[in-house]
Formats: sequence, C-alpha cells, structure tokens
Amino acid sequence: MTYQVLARKWRPRIFEEIVGQSHVVTALTNALDSKRLHHAYLFTGTRGVGKTTLARILAKALNCETNGISAHPCGKCRACLDIDAGRFPDLLEVDAATNTKVDEMRELLDTAQYMPVSGRFKVYIIDEVHMLSRHAFNSMLKTLEEPPEHVKFILATTDPQRLPVTILSRCLQFNLKPLTPALIAGHLKHVLTAEGIAFEEPALAQLAKAASGSLRDSLSLLDQAIAHGGGKVAAAQVAEMLGSLGGDLVWQLLERIAEGDGKGTIAEAERIASRSLSLDSALGDLAAILHRIALAQAGAIPADDDPDAQRIGDMSQRIDAGRVQVMYQIALLGRRDLALAPDELAGFTMALLRMLSFAGPANQDRPRSEVKVATPLAAPAVAPRANAPSSPPSQPAPSAASTGPVAFDGDWPALVERLRLTGMAGMAARHAELDSFQNNHLELVVPETDRVYAEKAYQDKLKADLAAHFGPGFRLSVRVGATAGASVAAAKSRETALKQASAAEAIEEDPFVRDLVRDLGAEVVPSSIRPADGAGKQSSDKR
Ligand SMILES: Nc1ncnc2c1ncn2[C@@H]1O[C@H](COP(=O)(O)OP(=O)(O)OP(=O)(O)O)[C@@H](O)[C@H]1O
Ligand SMILES: [Mg+2]
Ligand SMILES: [Zn+2]
Repeated sequence: MTYQVLARKWRPRIFEEIVGQSHVVTALTNALDSKRLHHAYLFTGTRGVGKTTLARILAKALNCETNGISAHPCGKCRACLDIDAGRFPDLLEVDAATNTKVDEMRELLDTAQYMPVSGRFKVYIIDEVHMLSRHAFNSMLKTLEEPPEHVKFILATTDPQRLPVTILSRCLQFNLKPLTPALIAGHLKHVLTAEGIAFEEPALAQLAKAASGSLRDSLSLLDQAIAHGGGKVAAAQVAEMLGSLGGDLVWQLLERIAEGDGKGTIAEAERIASRSLSLDSALGDLAAILHRIALAQAGAIPADDDPDAQRIGDMSQRIDAGRVQVMYQIALLGRRDLALAPDELAGFTMALLRMLSFAGPANQDRPRSEVKVATPLAAPAVAPRANAPSSPPSQPAPSAASTGPVAFDGDWPALVERLRLTGMAGMAARHAELDSFQNNHLELVVPETDRVYAEKAYQDKLKADLAAHFGPGFRLSVRVGATAGASVAAAKSRETALKQASAAEAIEEDPFVRDLVRDLGAEVVPSSIRPADGAGKQSSDKR
C-alpha cells in the first residue's frame, strides 16, 4: 500500500471530526437541522484550518440521500461516497487560483441553470475565491444575485479583504480561526494513537507550536517527524528536526540579508523550500523576528530565558531601525502576495530580494532611515526603457570614407557588429574608434585607458581578421590618443548608464517604494540601484 500523507488520510468526513471551529460547526449544524439554508456560504481563515474540509462536509449535508438535508450525512449513500471520492457530478469544485479567467468562470456558471444530475443541489465550491479576476467576479455576481433554487455556493478564501463587497454581502460568512497549540497537540495525539505510532508528549507540543495554527502544517510536520525518527516521535529528534527546519533556517536567512548577500539569500530560500517548510510561515517567522528586533531597538530587553536574546541583540545593532521597519513591512506584504506570485518560491524569493535591496549595512550617522537598493533582481520593474538607444550615436565623419577599394561607409561600429570578430581581434575592434580611412589604410584610435589594444599582438590579430574584408593592400594602424566615445564599448557603457538611470526612475516610480518613502521616511540611494540585467557592475562608476 502506498503511504498516504496524514493530512489527506485524516481529512474529517463529518462535522463531529472537525477539530476546533466549534462556533462555525454549531452554527452550521443548527442551520442544517432546522433547514434554514442560505444559497451562498463563505469560509474564511488562514491556511490549513478546515475551509475546504468544511465545504465538502456541507456539500454532503446538503445532498445525503439517506438522511436528507441534515447535519449528519450518512457517509454511505451514493452521494456521500461520491462526494468523498471527488466524483459527485453535482459538486463542482474549482480552484480559483488556477481558473481565474472569466471564460472559465462563465462556462462553469452557465451550468448552474441546469438541474442537478443526481443530487438535491448543484454545489459550487470555489476555493481561493479572492483570486478571481474582476470580470469573473462580475459574472459570478449575476448568478449570486438570482440563484436558482437548486444551486448552492460555497466560497473559501484566506483573504476575504480582497473580495468585492457585492460578493461579501451576498454570502453567509464564517470565520475559521487558527487552532490553538493545545488543540493541535491533542489532535496529533489522537492521530498517532490511532496509527499505532509511539510518541513522547513534549514532541507533540513542539510540533503543535511550530505549526502556528495550521492543522495541515502540523500533520505535515508530523509526517516528517515520523520519517525522521524512524517510525517513532521523540522529543529530542523533533527538536533537532524543527531546529534545522524552522527557526534556525530563518535566522540564517536573515543573516544573509543583513550581509547583503544576494546569492546566499537565494540559496537559503531554496533550502527552506526544499525542506518543505511552508514559505508562508517562513515569512511569518521572519516578520516575528523582525518585530522582536524592533522591540529591542526601542529599548525592550529580551527575557533572560529567551534563547534568541543574543541574536536579537546582535541583529538590532546590525540593521538600522528604519530598515527593520521596511523589512517587516515587506514580510507582511510578501505573505499577502504569496498567492499571487507565479509560484510560492518565486513570491518568497522576491520578497526576500526586496528586503535585501532595502537592507544594506547599517549606517549609524544617518538620522533618517535610508533605503539602499542594491541587487539586480530586487529592483522592481527595472527593465530598460524601450527608448534606450541600441546603436551608438552618429560617427564623426571619416576623412575619406569612400576612397578605399571596398565599400566602407565609415560606420566602424556597424562594421564591427557585422563582422562578428571574436577573441583578441574582437576586443580590440570593440574598444577602438575610427580615426581615418584612406587608400585602404584604416587608422584606429584607442583611449589611454585601453592602450593595451594598441599593442602589436592585438593589432596583428585584428589586421588578419580585417584583411579578409578589406582585401589586398589593406593596412591597419592603431594608436593611443584622444577619442570621441564612438567605439562599440563606449556606446555599450553609455547604454548601461541609461538603463541605470531608467532603473533609478523605475525604482522611484514603483508604488511600493513610494509608499515606503512616504510612510517610513525612507530614501532611495541612487548609486545603489542596479539595472535588472546585471550589467550594473561597471555602470555605477561611469554615471
Ligand atoms: N479544523 C480541522 N479539523 C481537522 N482537520 C483539519 C482541520 N483543519 C485542517 N485539517 C487537516 O488539514 C487538512 C487540510 O485542511 P483544509 O484543506 O480544510 O484546509 P484549508 O483551510 O482549506 O486550507 P487552505 O487555505 O490551504 O486551502 C485536512 O485534510 C485535515 O487533515
Ligand atoms: Mg482549502
Ligand atoms: Zn449520505
């Protein structure tokens, strides 16, 4: 038999099996037993607290063949069995996070007008409903306004604030709560006992605490603890596992960010993701640490028995107070946006890079918090503006461009591009600009800083490569002298500088940055901005 993860295996199938949430369960069971039905229900609450589970039980309660509409679906009739198995034709479950398109929504809702195939009600469970597009909401609203008798909506979301009021006002809303550590530990004990797995009570308390309110997370952690402990759940092993999973990883992450180490930050992010830690709670942990650092900076002394006291004290010296505020804000917004990101890791990494970009080494003398934007990836929307010139400005007129035996219009950079010279010849060609061209004699000039390209070794290579193009009698000389900035290399560095400038502009125009500047008195340090393509290395000193 294949191993089924505990969270799936232990998904409650009746209201009585739901842990906690008694306020919701009582209200729902009373309503069902007295047949006071609403046509749209909304379950809100953080991850893994029972929203989807409740929605499915409610679908059974509405459609059970044996017991009729009641708070006690039988679990044995066809409707109950099919709903549990996920193949009930009148239960349409959509994950709005992956079906945000208005067409799909409309198609789905079009089916609402048809009578149920085998059940009493057609039930639509729309999970992560806040992810629907505005159009999709509108299209849903029409059905919500005049729902057919045989249709029930059950919406679920972690983020009710993002639902339009028009939708909210048409739903009966139930707010699920994060579960207390005691309830979670109790449930874990119940599961382990039923599974016949040995455990030590303190281990359960640790797991319950680490799950921060999510029963699903607690069961996933329990899966790992069982694997880690070779089929037994011992306190010491769990402590070790959680240490390497949670707290410490997040501290190491913060360490990398404080150091301004972009590569290290990304590596830590991947490490956290690969340990299947919830990225949402990792951001939450980070926010919690930042909060404690901020308290320390405001003069609060960590308790003696606080195992993190030392590190908090240390960090509070290293990261400037204003930046701690900014990073805290980014952690919160990052959590909010996690569901919007292309994938969780992307959302997580972007939040971290954003933090990194606002967290250079502390600068004690600055009275105001200063925002340092220092990494390529973090700069939001720094794609170069379309109008950045891609070709160098016009050339100084060559003295006798048309006198050579071969066609050469004097556009040296264009020729360099066309000939695709490589190696030493290519380098010399790109750093040189045209001085003159007469009688098939090409004279190039390189600036003092690039004098190496005037050396014989380079000249010989370049000459050999150009001879093929210019034909017999071709002569080349390269001298060191004053230049006009018309070489390919010079144009390129100007382009980079331009990108840099528009990156700076984009940063300043970024609404998020503006909010920071406005709300937190942050300040953008232009020289710390790097354009997104990573070409910024040389650009900052050429601006
Ligand atoms: N209140 C609960 N009682 C018992 N088990 C629960 C409860 N909440 C969550 N679980 C466990 O966690 C698993 C996931 O729960 P569920 O899918 O209902 O969470 P959710 O609130 O919909 O989370 P998400 O926001 O991530 O979709 C369930 O299969 C079950 O094992
Ligand atoms: Mg769910
Ligand atoms: Zn039934």
